[in-house]
Amino acid sequence: MSVDLVVRNGRLLTPDGLVADAGVAIDDGTIVATGRTAQLPTGDRTFDVDGDVIAPGVVDCHIHNREPGLEYKEDWESATRAAAAGGVTTVVGMPNTEPIIDRPAHLERKFETGERGAHVDFQSYAVVTSENLDQISGLDEAGAIGFKIFLGSTVGDVPAPTDGEILAAMERIRSTGKRLGFHEENGEIIDHYEAAYREAGKNDPIHHAHSRPVIAEQEAIERMITFADETGASIHMFHVSSGSGAEAVARGRERGVDVTAETTPHYLWFTEDVLREQGNVARIQPPIRDAEQRDRLWRAFDAGVIDCVATDHAPHTDEEKLVDDPFANTWDAISGFVGLETEVPVMLSFVDDGRLSLTEWAYRHSTRPAQVWGMYPQKGSLRVGTDADLTIVDPDREWTLTDRETLHSKNTVTPFEGESFVGRATATIVRGEVVYQDGTVTGEPGYGTRVDVDEIE
Ligand code: DOR
Ligand code: ZN
Repeated sequence: MSVDLVVRNGRLLTPDGLVADAGVAIDDGTIVATGRTAQLPTGDRTFDVDGDVIAPGVVDCHIHNREPGLEYKEDWESATRAAAAGGVTTVVGMPNTEPIIDRPAHLERKFETGERGAHVDFQSYAVVTSENLDQISGLDEAGAIGFKIFLGSTVGDVPAPTDGEILAAMERIRSTGKRLGFHEENGEIIDHYEAAYREAGKNDPIHHAHSRPVIAEQEAIERMITFADETGASIHMFHVSSGSGAEAVARGRERGVDVTAETTPHYLWFTEDVLREQGNVARIQPPIRDAEQRDRLWRAFDAGVIDCVATDHAPHTDEEKLVDDPFANTWDAISGFVGLETEVPVMLSFVDDGRLSLTEWAYRHSTRPAQVWGMYPQKGSLRVGTDADLTIVDPDREWTLTDRETLHSKNTVTPFEGESFVGRATATIVRGEVVYQDGTVTGEPGYGTRVDVDEIE
């Protein structure tokens, strides 16, 4: 038997650790065998990875792809070009586009534009506001992977529903079998402090961070856990930024609530000092926290409280980020920065530091996100019979992001410019096609396709 492609001479990353001299046989976009190179079938094509690690494809369930409507920042093509170059094989787009993804027609448009532009596989969340509770079942049937509510004001100004509406939304979403995620910052707290800081003339980037205190995150998490306890909804906390927030998630789980959680590379890597050093470049919502909160977030990460790593990839123009004068009045700057091409290097650098194992990395960055959002095992595994999505990495490659213009997004502002890493993706394979190899995006826009999702497990 000859298969389409054999990826050989790698170290295969399995849930039990690395298997040396191994590879993956792929036919028709699907994994047909894994194991020692010598035992694999022959392939019409072979790809010798020369000792690199072959991991299940990285699944990033939190990107702002910006299309439809905000293509001046990013679109499906550019976001997924960056994904491919970063070793990411599946992305899930956020609904704060223009229009917002609050009804089936808008979701369908988002999917259509993705089918035309994407280099890697994709999905999208739908948003719930005060205006669209009656759209929840339609959005489910139109194929949304899950739902999102913005509890506090953030980029896009999607208004938060009332607590009553959130309870009603949870009832409806529970019956779809899908999960509801939150931008979990208490809006009344952050609005109060922002007004107070502006009034007091506190206009520095660090003041933006302090105007959105940890208690706003912790309270929002605790309130949503209470609501989920009442309604039986499955919920998710996007971008948990603090130890206090993560500890609240742990308490919710002890209560028996189905609450999952995500953090991002920037909360694990930086402390709020980055706002003093790089100003509005590092401005993001929720903000990067102090060392004590970062260390407690790590403890929760180590204890397994944090299910997933995702980027919150949020491209904006240099002008919107005030790059020319990064310490200018923070209230004139926008929040967010890109991350798709630094997430694997950041996590592999933590592996190099001994902070987590390669197996733990693949679990948090591939398997677990796929499970949380109902894409497993089609995504997030190297099992025979599933999509042949592979992230191939050299975990020992030392490099520095010296020039953000080498990144593939339309806009490239990132506080990771100038940082040094150990490890990076050397190739990215999506359903058996090599979409990125050694610095070059080799795939075609439109190859990527929507992942079908039924219900979470
Ligand atoms: O900093 C942020 N940027 N936080 C968000 O909640 C949204 C995001 C964006 O869309 O730019
Ligand atoms: Zn986000």
